This record gives sequence, C-alpha cells and structure tokens, in this order.
Amino acid sequence: MTIKESTKLLVCLLFLILILRVEACITGCKLALASYYVWEGANLTYISEIFDQEFSEILKYNPTIPNPDFVRSTSRINVPFTCDCLNGDFLGHTFIYKTQRGDTYHIIAEQAFSSLTTVDWLERVNRYGDIDIPENVEINVTVNCSCGDRHVSRDYGLFLTYPLRSGDSLSELAAASGVPAEIIQRYNPASDFNAGNGLVFVPAKGISGGAVAGISIGAVFGVLVLALAVYVIVYRSKKKVAEASLPPPRSHDQYLRIGRGSASNLEKALESIDVASPRMTGITVEKSVEFSFEELAKATNGFSISNKIGQGGFGTVYYAELRDEKAAVKKMDMQASKEFLAELKFLTHVHHLNLVRLIGYCIESCLFLVYEYIENGNLGQHLRGSGREPLSWPTRVQIALDAARGLEYIHEHTVPVYIHRDIKSANILIDKNFRAKVADFGLTRLTEYGSSSLHTRLVGTFGYMPPEYAQYGDVSAKVDVYAFGVVLYELISAKEAIVKIKEPENESKGLVALFEEVLGQPNEEEHLRKLVDPRLGDNYPFESVYKMIQLAKACTQENAQIRPSMRSIVVALMTLSSSTEDWDVGSFYESQAMHLISGR
Ligand SMILES: Nc1ncnc2c1ncn2[C@@H]1O[C@H](COP(=O)(O)OP(=O)(O)OP(=O)(O)O)[C@@H](O)[C@H]1O
Ligand SMILES: *[C@@H]1O[C@H](CO)[C@@H](O)[C@H](O)[C@H]1NC(C)=O
Ligand SMILES: *[C@@H]1O[C@H](CO)[C@@H](O)[C@H](O)[C@H]1NC(C)=O
Ligand SMILES: *[C@@H]1O[C@H](CO)[C@@H](O)[C@H](O)[C@H]1NC(C)=O
Ligand SMILES: [Mg+2]
Repeated sequence: MTIKESTKLLVCLLFLILILRVEACITGCKLALASYYVWEGANLTYISEIFDQEFSEILKYNPTIPNPDFVRSTSRINVPFTCDCLNGDFLGHTFIYKTQRGDTYHIIAEQAFSSLTTVDWLERVNRYGDIDIPENVEINVTVNCSCGDRHVSRDYGLFLTYPLRSGDSLSELAAASGVPAEIIQRYNPASDFNAGNGLVFVPAKGISGGAVAGISIGAVFGVLVLALAVYVIVYRSKKKVAEASLPPPRSHDQYLRIGRGSASNLEKALESIDVASPRMTGITVEKSVEFSFEELAKATNGFSISNKIGQGGFGTVYYAELRDEKAAVKKMDMQASKEFLAELKFLTHVHHLNLVRLIGYCIESCLFLVYEYIENGNLGQHLRGSGREPLSWPTRVQIALDAARGLEYIHEHTVPVYIHRDIKSANILIDKNFRAKVADFGLTRLTEYGSSSLHTRLVGTFGYMPPEYAQYGDVSAKVDVYAFGVVLYELISAKEAIVKIKEPENESKGLVALFEEVLGQPNEEEHLRKLVDPRLGDNYPFESVYKMIQLAKACTQENAQIRPSMRSIVVALMTLSSSTEDWDVGSFYESQAMHLISGR
C-alpha cells in the first residue's frame, strides 16, 4: 500500500465516520410546543412543574386562557419546550419526572404526560422495568417533536406535538390550527388522524409566543454537513464500499430525512428532496386486532376449565397468555353482526386509564373478545368475597373516582358517545395497584340520545336499573348515573344491589330503598352507621361516608333529569378524595353535585 493510497483510505474512513454520525437529525430547534390535554385534577401548577417551565412562559402560548387558576379540564394547553436532536437519531426532549408511589409507565405516559409519550417509549429510555419502578426516583420522559420539513413547506417552523384522542380528525385539526389539511397530512404521512391515539406534528400557525422558531444556526451547520456528505457520496460511489448492515432508515419526517447508514439511503433521501416520499405514505402501522381461533385456543389451553375466570350474562371469560401478554378472552354466546364488527374496530381504539382495553377479537365459529387482563378481580369480589382484605375507606373513594372517570370518558369524550347500560360491581375491575377500570362498555350497542325501547333491547341488571329504563326502556346517560349511585351504596355497605331481608318476612329490597328509608330520619347517623360495611370497623370518617351517601342519593333520584352528570360526579369525588375533612376547598368548581352535597 502506497502512502498515497493509505492517505486516501484514511480520508475515506474519516468521512465514513462523519456520515455515520449524520443520522436522522443534526440539530433541533429552539422551540416546539406540546399539546397537553388537561385531565380533571390537572392544573397549571402541575403542568408547569412536570415540564419544568415557568407559569408565565406557558401562558404566553395560551392567549385564550381566561383564568390561569382554573384551566378547564378536557381543554388543551400549549407547553413550550426546546426540541433537541437526541443521539443524532430523532427530535425530542427529555423531561425528568420524579416518580410517585404507585406510578407505572402507563400512568406516567397517559396521565401525567397526557399521552405525549407512550409506555413503549418510556421503557426504551429508562432502565427500570414497568413493574419495578422505584418511588421517588428520576426517570426520563421523552417527548418527540418536530422542527418542520423543508420538503413539505418552508412556511412553518413552530410545531405542536399533538397526541390524537378519539374524536380528533384531520379536518378539525386543520380548522383549529388554520393550516390546510393537506399540509398537515404531508407532515405526518404515516399517521391515521382518526386513530384516537398516536402523535402528530401540527404547524402552530396562529400561536404567537413572541418567539421566532425554526431555522437556527444549527440548521446552517446542517446544510454544510449535508454538502460535505454529498461530496463524500460522489467520491465514495466510485470506491464501491460494501454496504454496512445497519437498520433501515426510520420513516419520520424530520428536518433532514436521512437514514442511518449506507450511502445509497442518503442518495435516495437526496433524490427525493422536493417531493414528500410516496413510499412513506404507504406505511400504516395498524396493529392487528384480529386473532385466529387457533391462537386463542392455544392461549387458553383449549378454553380449559382451569383457565375460566368468570361467567356473565353474555358469555364466559378465560385467562389467556397471548403474544406474551396476559389477556382475558370473553367467549360470547352470540355472533357478531356486520355493524357490530365495525363498532368493535372502533372500540379497540378507545383508550383510557379507567376503561378495560379491548385488544382485539375473533369471529371464527363465534365471537370472542380479547381484553387486557386485570389482575385483581372485580369490585364485587373485593366487597363480598372471602379471603380478601377489606378495602380501606380511601381506597373505596379512589375506586369510585376511577370508575366515575371511565364513565365520564365514554359519556363525554368518545365520538360517538356511549352509554354503558350495565354498570355494576362485577363490571368494575381492580388492577394490581387497586385502581379501578370499567369493563364491558360498548357491548350494549351504540346508543344515541333519545332512542327508545323500539330500537334497543333492555339490557342491564336488576337492582341497578333506574325506573324510567326498567319501565319504559328510556335510555340516556342518566341510566349509568343511577347504576353508579347503586355502586356507591355498595362501596359504603358492601351489600348487594338487591338485599334479601329475613326479618320480619322474607323479602328482597333494593339497596337504594334501604338507604332512603333511613335518610332524613331523626337519628339518621345512627341508622346510617349500621349500614356501613362492618368490615370497615370504626376506620372511616363519617363525614366522608355521609358525603358519599349524599352523592349516591343524588345519582339515584327518580327524576333522571336532575341526577348529576358523570362530570360533576367526578369533580365531587375528586374533592372527596383529596380531602375528607376540608370538603369546601374545591368550592370554586361550580358543579351541581357539589351543591347537592355541600348543602348538608
Ligand atoms: N379483562 C378482564 N380481566 C380480568 N378478569 C375479567 C376481565 N373481564 C372479566 N373478568 C372476570 O370475569 C367475570 C365475568 O365477566 P363477564 O363480563 O362475562 O360477566 P359479568 O361482568 O359478571 O356480567 P356481564 O355479562 O353483565 O358483564 C367478571 O366479573 C370478572 O371477574
Ligand atoms: C394541582 O394539581 C395537583 C396534581 O393533580 C394537585 O396535587 C394540587 O393540589 C392542585 N393544585 C391546585 C391549586 O388545585
Ligand atoms: C418518537 O420517535 C421515535 C423515533 O422516531 C419513535 O421510535 C418513537 O416511537 C416516537 N415516540 C412516540 C411516542 O411517538
Ligand atoms: C435517563 O437517560 C440517561 C441518558 O440516556 C441515562 O444515563 C439514565 O440512566 C436514564 N435514566 C433511567 C432512570 O434509566
Ligand atoms: Mg362484565
């Protein structure tokens, strides 16, 4: 090897190293915005804390917030952050989050960070496994971002990282952002805007924060490196270097769409410089939700009796280990109609912390529904089953709040809106952290407001049905509110919805009637204390129990119209949960339920 040759080789190697470093991104941008969906209980103080961002700084990007002390839940807040090029690999920002007791990646991703990140993503940037996250440690929370894409448009530099929720659509996003739908779509070629989950990047056009975003000095540097890279490719292509076996390029539309690795990838990226690559639009990463009968049979040991975990009105439930995940397979006693199938597909997209997730289904031979497995059984078992520790009072309040949140979500935030129609303690499942999730929603067919018994079969369970439904089949969200009220009475008394009374005569009585008989009596407290679950002993604050009784009473009023909405119930239970003594702290929430309860 001559000296000249070895110098050439050296230069080559140097450039090769440079190229390998020119990965998916070179530089980030000064500013990106996170679209934070405000869940009930979140507030600006909390948001500014977890994003480590000044209150005033956040307000700059939210000119329409009238009162910073009270941000409306279910609205969205824009949170500014810097968008960095992480590991030369992708654009994002790593926030440091201090874990609290009971945190799981699920809670951190979907609640604390309002779906701005995902469980998978958290698992990849942290060394702790999901089940052994210690308390009070700092973990990495990476939120992706975008600085735009010159190939799509040069007009936009500031981008909103926007987690899609069910009900979102491209046309709505376009209307809200003032950016043409076609442009938004081109920035997110692989995204399904109706999916109800996943991140999209939306140009933040109308938002003035006084900040100039976009092309920074770093970008200029990027162009320089790019030019250098082009030179190297031309030089190298003559050399015919063997292709490195590196992973294929990632398909995200970031500032420089250059794959890791081989020169040919880089060339392709350069060729397509003025067109959004058509190959990218073809990629739809929809996870398969349809399972084969064979797969389900295998996962349940052939639907063996030892895998059976329950039997309900619609079918039998089996424990399954499916694709390395624990699942509950529900074998339904019926076939799925075409309409119902369409609906099932939709249901697999509905995600909420307090709803049991439908993973998929199978329609071979009969209908099977595959749900995430919830470890700790149902609420009825905890209240009345043997061999379980009694639930403490604060746990009961938390379970009530969780279930209320799940219900509120289907009542108000899914499109179309759902009414459960079979709320009862058997359909409230308890997970390993004693958090509750509502099961089986959507099974009673899509129900529109005002539909009558002509269209809908009477489904539900006695003891939980309100009079207007049992008698006339009138369906409204207030059917669930009534049933929820019964569940509250159950949480207090641990009794069944229909109680058998031996004395004076064998008779059955609804739990609602049982409570109403003693409410308003001269020595009310004494009577009520007798109805409280004896397993609680004296370990409950009567004040708090009394407030829950008032709430249950409001929910089970005969007149459906004056029953509170699930939304007000959530607010009331939040207040109850946050303080059992200082009930009036939250009185700025102007909710019907609050008035009902604090009117004692
Ligand atoms: N995803 C799940 N994870 C763990 N256990 C479950 C799951 N789904 C159901 N179960 C258990 O199986 C039992 C039977 O469920 P199923 O829904 O068939 O009947 P049900 O809830 O008693 O009545 P209904 O048919 O009216 O819903 C439940 O009570 C619960 O204990
Ligand atoms: C803000 O939210 C946090 C977290 O939900 C809560 O702990 C805190 O009490 C709330 N603060 C106010 C003023 O509501
Ligand atoms: C963020 O980007 C990385 C790299 O493109 C990707 O693997 C990851 O799934 C993204 N995370 C989210 C939450 O979309
Ligand atoms: C967070 O990321 C940093 C840098 O990648 C890493 O060193 C650290 O271990 C991560 N933290 C955890 C809790 O995994
Ligand atoms: Mg059920």
